[in-house]
Amino acid sequence: MRRVKLRLAGLLVEFTDREKALAQVQEWAERGTIQPIVIFGPEGCGKTALLRQASHVLKDAGYTVFHLYPLDRIFEADIEEPDIRKAFLDLAQRALSEDSLGRVAWAVFDFIREALKRKKRKIAVLADDVFQVIGVQNAAAYVKGLLNMIEHPLYDYENIVAIVATSEGVSRREIAKHLWANLMPIWNMPKNGFQEIYEKLPHPKPDYEKAWSLTGGNPRILSILYEKKWDSNTTVGELASKKRLTAFILSLNPQEREWLAEATEDPDKLFTREKLPLLDKLVDLNLIVDTLASRDPQLWVDQPPPEKDPQLGIGRHIAWQTPLHREAVKKALEEFAR
Ligand SMILES: Nc1ncnc2c1ncn2[C@@H]1O[C@H](COP(=O)(O)OP(=O)(O)OP(=O)(O)O)[C@@H](O)[C@H]1O
Ligand SMILES: [Mg+2]
Repeated sequence: MRRVKLRLAGLLVEFTDREKALAQVQEWAERGTIQPIVIFGPEGCGKTALLRQASHVLKDAGYTVFHLYPLDRIFEADIEEPDIRKAFLDLAQRALSEDSLGRVAWAVFDFIREALKRKKRKIAVLADDVFQVIGVQNAAAYVKGLLNMIEHPLYDYENIVAIVATSEGVSRREIAKHLWANLMPIWNMPKNGFQEIYEKLPHPKPDYEKAWSLTGGNPRILSILYEKKWDSNTTVGELASKKRLTAFILSLNPQEREWLAEATEDPDKLFTREKLPLLDKLVDLNLIVDTLASRDPQLWVDQPPPEKDPQLGIGRHIAWQTPLHREAVKKALEEFAR
């Protein structure tokens, strides 16, 4: 299989591992998706990378592929009809210059209809972080649009694959209210696969066990640590300041601060009725993931996380996105107490 080239820590690396996820994409390519697949998971775990690799798989399987990566300001249409391709790219160009990226996300439905009117075929839509440009309040409507395209097409198709990726948090909650999508979590990378990426980074670097315990298999955290010359203190401080954790902790009452401190020891402690408002805030800040109930491999894209791993901050129901996210909260709590 062709492997897409990705940027990681300033290096060019091949898409690595994620074998099970690629087999799942292959299966979707063979059968189509009967509902749009919405992939959500920790920030920086590799959702965009997976979509980019998936586009290779789908193209090789004969799909006409529309790609929407609005946050990277990239829109592509791998379609043989030059007039449709040109119209799509012109629209994307205009939307980019007018800063109305959401328009392209909605317009893709018209382009797909036009493509099917010309010819029955296999169509794929890969949409990355579109909810951030169309507005989280429209996330469910967008997914419903994709579902309608699959269930009630104006023109017949051979197969449709619709995959949307989103960072864990508000949009997932919005979509989960309806039965319009197959919501599938993805976790950070498994230990063996992640080691392959780690090996590609030049020396000096900490030994692999240390890198694993800091990152929990998250390639973005790996690349930030590398950039910070493996200084985990600086990295944790930066994460805390980006997420404005001091202000967040200031907004909590003493009881909530105590619960938060307990959660840094065991995230499952948050799984009680009175702590739900705090839990939701932590999800919205992309600090924890609260939808881990089952580890049934069928429900996950790629490998599910372990049942429990206290060292990495993974509980049965709730997990810190990465060990460094947990450390950032610990640090902010300590600073507050000083
Ligand atoms: N399987 C992989 N092989 C090699 N590099 C990877 C892989 N997955 C992710 N990366 C690299 O790790 C970094 C983070 O990945 P990516 O941007 O795909 O994460 P993400 O889940 O989309 O993050 P966000 O939630 O912020 O959108 C990127 O530099 C990406 O190129
Ligand atoms: Mg992404």
